[in-house]
Amino acid sequence: MIIQPRTRGFICLTSHPEGCAENVRKQIEYVKSKGLINNGPKKVLVIGASTGFGLASRISAAFGSNAATIGVFFEKPGTEGRPGTAGWYNSAAFEKEAHAAGLYAKSINGDAFSDEIKKEAIELIKKDLGQIDLVVYSLASPRRTHPKSGENFASVLKPIGEPFSNKTVDFHTGVVSDITINPVTEQSDIDNTIAVMGGEDWKFWIEDLKAAGVLAQGCKTVAYSYIGPELTYPIYRNGTIGMAKNDLEGTVPYLNELLGDLNGVSYVSVNKALVTQSSSAIPVVPLYISLLYKVMKEKGIHEGCVEQMQRLFADRLYADNVVLDSEGRIRVDDLEMREDVQAEVAELWNKVTTENIESISDLAGYRRDFFNLFGFEFDNIDYNAESDELTSVESIK
Ligand code: NAI
Ligand code: NA
Repeated sequence: MIIQPRTRGFICLTSHPEGCAENVRKQIEYVKSKGLINNGPKKVLVIGASTGFGLASRISAAFGSNAATIGVFFEKPGTEGRPGTAGWYNSAAFEKEAHAAGLYAKSINGDAFSDEIKKEAIELIKKDLGQIDLVVYSLASPRRTHPKSGENFASVLKPIGEPFSNKTVDFHTGVVSDITINPVTEQSDIDNTIAVMGGEDWKFWIEDLKAAGVLAQGCKTVAYSYIGPELTYPIYRNGTIGMAKNDLEGTVPYLNELLGDLNGVSYVSVNKALVTQSSSAIPVVPLYISLLYKVMKEKGIHEGCVEQMQRLFADRLYADNVVLDSEGRIRVDDLEMREDVQAEVAELWNKVTTENIESISDLAGYRRDFFNLFGFEFDNIDYNAESDELTSVESIK
């Protein structure tokens, strides 16, 4: 079928198989261009491996360290006349490239929050890899069914305490407007967001993996967090999602203790704000990202997911000395948070309007990155040609 982008708000309903493969190939090329990571990971489980930071982590481990990887994700394959999700095509493309390079790569498509998928992953590790030495936890989801109680939780993206008013942009049209987001009215909205995006499921994974004996001596685990600038604090770090991130970060001491007898260690890495399927759903943030991209590109310090994750692996996680901030976190948001960068973004933030947004921000870059997530807007792909929506890979269960 001929596949063109079809969007509804911040969601793209279609994905392009060859375009997604191009996205994956470009990331692989980047990682290879940086050379092998010293003493990098060898056998890796990536939870949330199909898009965004998780996919970039998988590519960094595989092509930066020749690692065997097992990916867990929740995606849809295509059906006759209807394309699958981008994460499906990304994973199919990744596995093809990994296998061609002689690397082990298998995937499990299902609900990572469930006990069943954890069991499946453990069985696969036992059968094929024995033990793993890195677990990347990179889930982003709007909902979770609790594996023990069966309760369904939905996360919300809201401020806490007071309404939050600021500028926002519709990145399709470039219209900048004022938005007011009312705070949560129920404590349960905060609790539910923590249940979905907090640390409990990460904890369950590591507990189960350890109990099954599939974690190697000296194993590492890492999960991802975000802080960002003060202007997004009300909707991000001090909002419901921020409470979930506090909970995630608060899981580290427990996991370090749990992993102690294996000489294992757990980390949270604070990453840069980037265009992903998850971040495009947060109000205000896309406008911030558009301005941030402009400033960072002008300074020559812009990074995408793969640049971030390659640097996380090479210069942080597998460096001789893992540098942490005062709260014990790895920081690869260091360039985003640089004083000169933030000062320039703040100045542009005050000025930005519908009239000047195309010139003072990198909205065009935001949009391109958004469409690239779904395999669109790559120069070397012919979007008028037929593609095979039924891409399948044997090693994705
Ligand atoms: P994403 O939406 O690109 O990736 C989410 C992944 O989770 C996908 O692989 C998806 O298949 C998987 N997933 C979702 N629900 C699942 C389920 N029930 N079972 C199995 N897999 C499931 O998101 P992104 O942005 O890469 O986020 C990953 C982590 O990075 C999150 O913790 C996010 O908060 C964090 N982060 C994101 C930043 C950003 O600007 N995008 C900045 C800093 C941190
Ligand atoms: Na991810």
